[in-house]
Amino acid sequence: MLTRNFTYDKIKKREIKGNARKGRGVKMLVSAKDMLTKARAGKYAVGQFNINNLEWTKAILLTAEEMKSPVILGVSEGAGKYMCGFKTVSAMVRAMIEELGITVPVALHLDHGSYEGAKKCIEAGFSSIMFDGSHYPIEENIAKTKELVATAEEKGLSLEAEVGAIGGEEDGVIGSGEVADPNECKMIADLGVTMLAAGIGNIHGKYPANWKGLNFEVLAKINELTGDMPLVLHGGTGIPADMIKKAISLGVSKINVNTECQLAFAEATRKYIEEGKDLQGKGFDPRKLLAPGFEAIKATVKEKMELFGSVGKA
Ligand code: 13P
Repeated sequence: MLTRNFTYDKIKKREIKGNARKGRGVKMLVSAKDMLTKARAGKYAVGQFNINNLEWTKAILLTAEEMKSPVILGVSEGAGKYMCGFKTVSAMVRAMIEELGITVPVALHLDHGSYEGAKKCIEAGFSSIMFDGSHYPIEENIAKTKELVATAEEKGLSLEAEVGAIGGEEDGVIGSGEVADPNECKMIADLGVTMLAAGIGNIHGKYPANWKGLNFEVLAKINELTGDMPLVLHGGTGIPADMIKKAISLGVSKINVNTECQLAFAEATRKYIEEGKDLQGKGFDPRKLLAPGFEAIKATVKEKMELFGSVGKA
């Protein structure tokens, strides 16, 4: 007997395949500017979900299409290296959008890029770049961000800058968990970046039990000083729903999620193996072995899109 969800998934899949065959409405990569301007005005946030491989990318793209949600695929420098370089990532994502018949806006975004990494991604065809100059003295952060603003403008890409290092560690990028200075945020925002990440007590990875929560006072001040600038909340994993909603009401229009998809994938894969499914029939086939983790990523992304309010906004 078919369950409702199964039937729904089948119909969706057929629809998506049909789009791909007819080339109907299939989009190429877009800059994140438009989707974030709309999100900011509409008081919701677009999720940036980090990718690690083909399964991750496919799960996120298909969920965005099913949810009719715009989406940002985040690639850290470490993940880029793992996937055989930014050119490989760009080619894979572009081909996948076409083959899967994805019609929702998709931005391919460098996450926490170095100055050199940003240049490489621009060359590889990314549509959005984050330059994380938060560890430089503010003057140097300004000088390098300024130069990248000009390049991004010329190429029609979106550019994210960061003030106040995000706490914790992500792919070798370690931050002390500073709270950004709102005046420095204004200085960087005034350079003409598309979106601004500011440290407000957020941390990459799991939050410790004694975490004090987001600093809304500072966020409100940054929001007041930076006008319509879409603000970015890193470390989306494990932030309670009420804090997410409050952050969105104070100008957050992009929320980054990475660890939560990794945890969901690992848990589902562990269950599959612990239940001995890899030892039954052809359960060792990677397409079977990775399927529960793939579905778990889809479920996590769906839940986040619902929480962020981006469903139906494509
Ligand atoms: P989490 O891994 O904590 O979800 O953070 C993701 C992130 O901020 C990517 O830049």
